[in-house]
This record gives sequence, C-alpha cells and structure tokens, in this order.
Amino acid sequence: MSFRFTSRALVRQFAVGSLSLALLGAFSPLSIQPQAQEARQGTAVADRFVNDLLQRMTLEEKIGQMSQIALNQKESVSPDERILRGQVGSFLFLTDAKEINRLQHLAVEKGRLHIPLIFGFDVIHGFRTIYPVPLALAASWDPAQAEEAQRMAAKEASAVGINWTFAPMVDIARDPRWGRIMEGAGEDPYLGSRMAEAQVRGFQGDEIGSPEHILTSVKHFAGYGAADGGRDYDSSYISEDRLWNVYLPPFEAAVRAGSGSLMTAYMDLNDVPGTGNNFLLHEVLRDKWKFNGFVVSDWESVQNLTTHGFASGPKDAAVRAINAGVDMEMTSHVYRDELAAAVKQGLVQQSTIDEAVRRILTMKYRLGLFINPYVLPSRAETELVTSAQRQAARVAAERSAVLLRNEGDLLPLKSSLSSIAVIGPLADSKPDIMGSWSLAGHPADSVTVLEGIRKRFPSGVTISSAEGVEIERGQPSIFDSQFPSPQPVLKTDAGRDAEFARAIALVKQSQVAVLVLGEAQTMSGERASRSSLTLPGRQQQLLEAAVATGKPVVLVLLNGRPLDITWASQHVPAILDAWYPGTEGGNAIANLLFGDANPGGKLPVTWPRDVGQVPIYYAHNLTQIPDAPDTRYWDGSSAPLYPFGYGLSYTKFRLDGLKVSTASVKSGSPLTVSIEVQNTGPVAGDQVVQLYTHQRFGSASRPVRELKAFRRISLKPGEKQTVALTLDTHDLGFWSPQTHRWSIEPGTFDLWVGVDSTATEHATFTVSP
Ligand code: NOJ
Repeated sequence: MSFRFTSRALVRQFAVGSLSLALLGAFSPLSIQPQAQEARQGTAVADRFVNDLLQRMTLEEKIGQMSQIALNQKESVSPDERILRGQVGSFLFLTDAKEINRLQHLAVEKGRLHIPLIFGFDVIHGFRTIYPVPLALAASWDPAQAEEAQRMAAKEASAVGINWTFAPMVDIARDPRWGRIMEGAGEDPYLGSRMAEAQVRGFQGDEIGSPEHILTSVKHFAGYGAADGGRDYDSSYISEDRLWNVYLPPFEAAVRAGSGSLMTAYMDLNDVPGTGNNFLLHEVLRDKWKFNGFVVSDWESVQNLTTHGFASGPKDAAVRAINAGVDMEMTSHVYRDELAAAVKQGLVQQSTIDEAVRRILTMKYRLGLFINPYVLPSRAETELVTSAQRQAARVAAERSAVLLRNEGDLLPLKSSLSSIAVIGPLADSKPDIMGSWSLAGHPADSVTVLEGIRKRFPSGVTISSAEGVEIERGQPSIFDSQFPSPQPVLKTDAGRDAEFARAIALVKQSQVAVLVLGEAQTMSGERASRSSLTLPGRQQQLLEAAVATGKPVVLVLLNGRPLDITWASQHVPAILDAWYPGTEGGNAIANLLFGDANPGGKLPVTWPRDVGQVPIYYAHNLTQIPDAPDTRYWDGSSAPLYPFGYGLSYTKFRLDGLKVSTASVKSGSPLTVSIEVQNTGPVAGDQVVQLYTHQRFGSASRPVRELKAFRRISLKPGEKQTVALTLDTHDLGFWSPQTHRWSIEPGTFDLWVGVDSTATEHATFTVSP
C-alpha cells in the first residue's frame, strides 16, 4: 500500500483550504499556516510533523486523540469542553456543516495544539441521496458501478464536512437470517474482494485526501457474517482455512486498495473478541498485510470486552484492546478513563500509545485536515440530492435489479396497458425503499414504486393502489428513533379484512397487478436477524389471492436478503428483485418494468428454497454420493431455488467457442480464457460472463466450484463479442489446513464459463510448479 503525497493534491487542498477559510471569515487560518507550508514536502515531512506534534502532547492529549464520541452521547462534560481539554479526537454522527465547522473551530483554534477533529459517519450506500444497498450493488456484478455509487456518496458526505465513513462492510455472509447480509457483497470471497476494493477507490479517490472524497474504514474485522444461527452479535466459529480462504480475502483486498482505517468486529471469533484479537490485528493485519492505517473499535466494543467474559473490568478491557491493536475507541470511554493509569503501571507501553496516536494523526494529516479543516457551508446547500446524484442513483438501482422469473415474457409490461394495480405494504412507502443504514436520507426525497409508475403514465392509464396488508417487526428496531418501524393502523380484524379485500378488488379491475412485497426498512440491517425467511405478515396470502384472480401478477421484491419465494417461483409469472434500491428506486423500477431499462443484475448469494437450508453457498465441497448432491434432505430438495450468479434478461444470449490459451500453465503465470457471447434476442441487454474453477485434488478437499473472474458486458441486438478473461493462477492458491500456509498446488483443474454458477462450457488445464 503506498503512502504518497502528490504535490498537486496538496497544493489543491491548500488552495481549497485557504479559500474556504477566507470565506468562512470567522476562522483565522493563521495558526495552521506553518503546518500547511510544511505539508508540501510529502511523507518525510508528514513523519516529522507528526513526530513533532507527538513530542509536544501530554499522555492525556494522546489518549484524547484515541477517543471518539457520538453526537448526543450522554456525558457529564459537554462535547465543547471535551474538545477544549483535548479529550476527543473524533466525532461520529454529525451531519450539520455549521456544527461541524463550529466544533472544528474549537479544536483547531482554541485547542492547545490545534489538532483537527475527524468526523465519521456511516455512509453505507449514499448520504442524503440513497443508493442501492451494498448487497444490491454487488448484484450489479460491476465493480465500476459500486465505485461510482460510493464516489457520489463521498461527494455528498464531504459536502457537509464528513471526512470518514464506516464502510465498506466486507463481511462474507452465507446465512440470510443474518440481518446485516444486506450491508456486504454476499457469499463469495472473489466477488466480495472486487467489490471491497472498488468501494475503497470510490470513497477515497486516487489517494487519501483527494477533494470530495472521504476516508474508509473497512469492517468488521473479522468473521461477523458467520454469526451462529445468523443471530446478530453471536459468536462465530470459523476454521483456520475457511478464515483465510473465505472471510479474510475481502479485507485484504480493501487493505491493498489503501483503506485508511479498519473497524473491529463486535463478536467473538473462535472465542476471542474481534476487539481484543491479537492474531487478527497484529499477525494478520500489521505483520502480514502491512496495514499502516488506524484501527477503530466498533460501538462500545472496547468496554464490552468485559461483557464477553474476556476482560476482568474496564481497565483490563482498555489494556487488552490497545495491546491487541485498537487505536481508537468508539463511544465507550475506557481509554479515556483507564489508559493513563495503565501506562503508569506499565500495563501498556508508552510506545504503544505513541504508535496508535501516530497512525491517527498521520491519517488526519493525509486527509489534509491540518491544512483544510473546514467545510464550505455553501456546499451543503448546493450539493445534496442534485439531479446528477438522482440520475446516478437511478442508474445504480437499474443495474442492481435481478430478474428472477419471467414466464411468457410478461415483462416488460406493454405501454399500451390501460389499467395497473400497484399493491402491497411497500408499494408507496418512502422510507422502506431506502433500506437500512440510510441515516441521513430524507424519506421525502424517495420515489416510491407507485410514484414511479404514475410518473411514467402521466395520463390515460388507470393506476390504482392499496397496501392490502400491514407489516410490523416483532421487536423494536435500534433505528426506530430515526425512521420508526411501521406500526399497524388497522386495529380490528374486520378493518384488516376490508383492506385485503379492497386490494384484491383492485387487482380484479386491472389488466395487470404489480405486487410490491418484501421487508420494511428496519426488518433488515443491524439487529434485524430473523428465524424465518417468509414474507412478513400476510403478504404471502395477499400474493396468493392476487394470483388466484387470474390476472397477470408481477412480484417486485424490496429486500435486503433472499426471502422464501418458493411458492412464487412456481405460481407468479414475473419476479423482479429490486433489493432496497434507494431514493430513485421507484423510477428505476418503473423503467425496468416497462423495458426502458433491461435487468442485468445477478445474484451475489445463493437463494434458498427454505430457511432450513441455510447456511447455503455454491462453493461447497463434494463428499459422499456426489452424483446426487441435491438429495441431502429426505423431506425436500437440497438444491437452492436460484443459484449464485443467476439472473435473467429481456433478451437472450448465446455463449460458445470457449478457448483456453494453454492446456498447461506454470504456477504464477496467467491464463487467458475467452468465449463468444452473442445477443440473440430483440433488445439490447447486459450479460455477466462468469468463470469458475475446481482443483481436482490437493493437500485438502477443494470447493466444487469457485468464482475466479467475471465481466459484465452490454450488447445490442444481434451483436457478438469475444470476452477474454484473465485467470491469474495466483487466484488458484489457497490456505491449506494441512500445511498451514497459502500455496498454489500443481495439478489438474476444471474450468467452466457461463452466466451463473451452474455454467456448463467446460475445459481443463494443469498447473505445473
Ligand atoms: C455499530 C455497527 O456495528 C457499525 O457497523 C457502525 O459503523 C457503528 N455502529 C457506528 O454507527
């Protein structure tokens, strides 16, 4: 990972900084000018600058830099006072540019050493303009799309003064009961790695400190997605080889892409909490990957080392976290309360504190905060939910949707329709279409599916709508204070039956029904795990009743996880998975339904038939009775409903002419695999060419298939393209539980190319030492 300062970037930052300071007027740039001049020289100067600062800091001021506090955190001392005392290095959750500037002014102008604060926020899939959730961005199978969405998100967030996001979340998840599956890229380490690095590039730009970009914090290190039973926060037990082969690669990709920080995980990994995990934070992150950014804990996870039965009390928690490698503590304050005494008692080395502070200050320096600590308030007035943001969010939503079924080419719907019923509890819901982790989003900005369809038909078409049923969470959500979970309005059975009947009557009166079903915003995300995957509430009955009318029914899913749609997959002719598509979701869905956009997304997760199948993933090993892998249960199929990588289009594609550049390759050399793809259908469309391999034998059993390359292409009707994919033999390496190391093992490999993980175009090759 490079640590570079281009003079161009620094000069640009300095120019912007001076400009904004001048315009801000009230804040004198004088105290930071000398530092700005020094900053031009690059890394050596940065080191000198930080060392000089460190030498002038008291132990308490150093610990202050290692402490982050949240907006509205209940504390005996006010945030202003904490800043003046040098007891805080970072805030999270502030979104008001004026308040950010005011606090920054206190730190920079009134603080003893003029050290700027760093403002963090969960910019997960957009800031004010909400983009599709990360699982949906992964479904685009287009890293450039994910990069662009996060670049736009960074632009908006930086416009209010946010410098740092707690993203990307790169936890591999193979259990859709886990609510946070929607925050990551799904089940696969290769797809997950490409999405991880793309998001880091999008947020951070070419280098840390690029204007209109923000620092990333790849999270949650590591294994959070493997929580027992899919229960959020529960422990993960991951074998050594699975950790290296499946769970760690996306983190490594994000680190290599230059993520400036990393967040620890809440839970125990193999009985050691992520926040006190020396193996992860030292051996893997620092020693092996040479990570030179800083590590932040998750929310109160330092203090909670005691809750785990790991630390004996607050001081022990602080000591274990800092000694494991946690540089900054989020929201709990055992560092502030305990660390100084721990240093004096010799439980923590002074040099450990210095290293932590050095990393934090260096990152503030690289972000340009010593030069340009303020945000120009006018940016917040002009740069949020702009038409460019809306346009980018709409395109992202269109490219993320996955067409799961389209019997008789029901979709795209004909524009000549004269009546459409848009039905379901999510059909006209503004908060729900944004999905979880849209904390700065305004529901009023959202375009619902009903609105999107109405906009597309300004007149002449009868568009009717009803909720039909209500949905509610069984327990409150941690996000209720932000966007309250839907509460039932209909209090009696008679009222509920009447609404249900009204919806079905509208279906009967219309030529086609679009049912918008799935989960409300707070039903997925943090602390939103489920023990079942069924459509919440009476949505399944509503769907069945709509189908029973005999009218053509299109099911549009709004969801952050695969849901149980096994019945729908047999009885509903068209199913479009729109995920949580964000602010422009309604417009994007209308474009997809009526063929102005053609779905090209593919599943980033294996879609189960039944919750009893989870965890489920395509890259499993083959064992006994390999010919009948689908018969692992006697009471139902063990095959998924839809395979990983699956997704339909409004057009058809033919793939043939698979070629492999050589039948035998030397370990470490690349291989080129090509195939011809032709759009044989009537409209332009996208296809994702996917390459899977299988190692036939080795020091350990290897998965039946593993994704190793992919590319999304667009083809006009009739157009043909030869897609050449590079298979880096480095990617054939794996961590062997026998040798306890990573290696590329010589041998015979199968290779398949196709449009999902059941691809049939096959070849073999050998790898020699
Ligand atoms: C807790 C979540 O686990 C983490 O992902 C998030 O970044 C922090 N809270 C801050 O909101």
